[in-house]
Amino acid sequence: MSGSEALVSAARRAREHARARYSGFKVGAALELPDGTIITGCNIENATYGLTLCAERVALVKALSEGHTSFVRIAVVADTDAPTPPCGPCRQLLWEYCGDLEIVMANLEATTASHRLGELLPMPFDDRLLR
Ligand code: THU
Repeated sequence: MSGSEALVSAARRAREHARARYSGFKVGAALELPDGTIITGCNIENATYGLTLCAERVALVKALSEGHTSFVRIAVVADTDAPTPPCGPCRQLLWEYCGDLEIVMANLEATTASHRLGELLPMPFDDRLLR
């Protein structure tokens, strides 16, 4: 968990931009590249509910669309005492493009947990099965 303060701070700031009028549950995410660059995201909700985008996914697609291909870790921030982990679909997408990255979970005051994605998605479906 050490050294992730800047990343967590970026995720907290991104969370302030969350468009979460339906759930009221604001989430921020910050994805770190190998050179230390940070790309952020927040959840973007929609009246259809189903079109809602999670903060992790927004950060990921921003990074991918800017041409980034390598990722070190992601911070996820929500205003919860317990760690807020990425949802199942986000785990699958992160696995596809980021591999076994570190996931740092934090709330508004402190870091609450840190896990490798492989721990959270222990038996992934991925390209190895399509060969
Ligand atoms: N949400 C995220 O953005 N990331 C997570 O890790 C968990 C859930 C969002 C989706 C929705 O806008 C709100 O939180 C409630 O589920």
